[in-house]
Amino acid sequence: MTNYVYIATSLDGFIATNEGHLDWLDEIPNPEKSDYGYAEFMAAIDALVMGRKTFDKVRSFDLWPYDKPVYVLSSGKPDVPDGLQDKIKVVNQSPREVVDRLHGLGYQNLYIDGGRTIQEFLQADLIDEMIITRVPVLLGNGIPLFSKLSQRLYFSHEKTEILNGILVKSHYVRLRE
Ligand SMILES: NC(=O)c1ccc[n+]([C@@H]2O[C@H](COP(=O)([O-])OP(=O)(O)OC[C@H]3O[C@@H](n4cnc5c(N)ncnc54)[C@H](OP(=O)(O)O)[C@@H]3O)[C@@H](O)[C@H]2O)c1
Repeated sequence: MTNYVYIATSLDGFIATNEGHLDWLDEIPNPEKSDYGYAEFMAAIDALVMGRKTFDKVRSFDLWPYDKPVYVLSSGKPDVPDGLQDKIKVVNQSPREVVDRLHGLGYQNLYIDGGRTIQEFLQADLIDEMIITRVPVLLGNGIPLFSKLSQRLYFSHEKTEILNGILVKSHYVRLRE
């Protein structure tokens, strides 16, 4: 059972502008149209857990990009288009409750996505592995990947790859006693 973070950040640790824009990701030259290992990562994932704001962003794309169950965290009732009714489930639960629920359904490997959502899972020490791709830009401001924690969390460094000579993709695994 593994809870993963797989995300891109600016050098100064932001995952989107304050307005939620990702244009700084789209600007990266990618002449060979590499997916940078995303499909391989997704193949090992059983279900996704994402914050409502990340859901709002993803649903604005032309195509729904996931073929796995998606659980959207929200304290409200986000508008879910008809075409997505059977693909997502809105849940209003703590990270621990969501993880227990999904494990109970047989989902072992979870992809946790969204800034605040990841921060809540880290605060509850429910993140096991983080694959973080650093983009060489300083956004100066935006939505942060990390926030304050009430305890230190140590990770081992598994590997780092340089992609297209531009991106630095590092894989960290939580070290627990
Ligand atoms: N760079 C990247 O690779 C990357 C990856 C993913 C996302 N992003 C970007 O990150 C931005 C979104 O991140 P974010 O930090 O603003 O928000 P987020 O984590 O995606 O969503 C936050 C929302 O999730 C809901 N939520 C979180 N925890 C909850 C809980 N325990 N119970 C109930 N509801 C809970 C709340 O929704 P309600 O307000 O509805 O209650 C909260 O407002 C977007 O712009 C997205 O494009 C970037």
